[in-house]
Amino acid sequence: MKDILIMGIESSCDETSVSIVKNGREVLSNVINSQIKIHEAYGGVVPEIASRCHTEVINQIMKESLKEAKVSLDDIDAIAVTYGPGLVGALLVGVSYAKGLSFATGKPLVPVNHIEGHIAGNYITHKDLEPPFLCLIISGGHTHLVNVKNYNEFEILGKTRDDAIGEAFDKVARVVGLGYPGGPKVDNLAKEGTANIKLPVVHLDNLDFSFSGIKTAVINLNHNQKDINKADLCASFEKAVTEMLTNNVRKALKEYNEDKIVIAGGVSRNSYIRNEFDKLGEELGCKIYYPEPILCTDNAAMIAAQGYYDFINGKRADLKLNAIPNLKIGNK
Ligand code: KG4
Ligand code: ZN
Repeated sequence: MKDILIMGIESSCDETSVSIVKNGREVLSNVINSQIKIHEAYGGVVPEIASRCHTEVINQIMKESLKEAKVSLDDIDAIAVTYGPGLVGALLVGVSYAKGLSFATGKPLVPVNHIEGHIAGNYITHKDLEPPFLCLIISGGHTHLVNVKNYNEFEILGKTRDDAIGEAFDKVARVVGLGYPGGPKVDNLAKEGTANIKLPVVHLDNLDFSFSGIKTAVINLNHNQKDINKADLCASFEKAVTEMLTNNVRKALKEYNEDKIVIAGGVSRNSYIRNEFDKLGEELGCKIYYPEPILCTDNAAMIAAQGYYDFINGKRADLKLNAIPNLKIGNK
């Protein structure tokens, strides 16, 4: 069978990325331009600045991606682009660029859901992984427990009722003075602390999550106890949120009689969370999958991987494609 090359384009938040992926699994290039340094000064992503930065670099990133993959535009079978969820202005840069490229080259345009892309990052790292499986998506904007029935069929089993877990990490980092982006900084500082501070762990009776209570508890503790040990606070926060994740995953694995769990999204880079899931895997005799670190946070290789499965399933967009900032997983 002929190889299929997909160009993935990602611009939903603060990373501009273009990647070339072969047959949904083999990365030929994955060029990522992160704007973290620019947004750092503001303590978070400034949407208007993000859009402008995407516009400035996207064409160059696309050229670099082709060069690194040692292919030309002619060799590409389809152009896959993130059309949601994300920041509308940022998404529109990638969507408009992809439409222009599709029009100019006559290559098919494939619209990709960013959250489904996060799941697909795992197909690159684990060549043997195939649906069905349960997936926990933990990112800056999302916390979902999903039944991945097929490459293109998803059922949401649980989700956060308030904040996304990454949002809680970023907020905790900000209040304890670690700055943006918070997740990796909390991860590092927590290693120097002990989880000896009691924080609220929410157990809901279904598979939903809630992180606003613990976020507020950390903010209040930090405000009221000026001499609080920040490393201990970060370690205690990580321990409590991880317990909420492992509780629900344990419940879901039992309920759905599954023996593997796939973890995805930026927060899946967290070393404590990985450790605890490895322990859960041993306890339950389950296999735990994570993408390699570079495929956890936003990148276009995961978009090209999902784009491949959408492409062979016949999913296409025309030049009327628009950005959908609140796009839901599984949206046809
Ligand atoms: O998946 P992602 O790049 O963007 C979204 O789609 O939201 O996730 C970004 C999130 C941020 O909240 C960031 O703080 C968090 O992932 N993150 C981490 C770590 N690395 C990134 N959180 C905890 N520990 C980490 N090591
Ligand atoms: Zn993401």
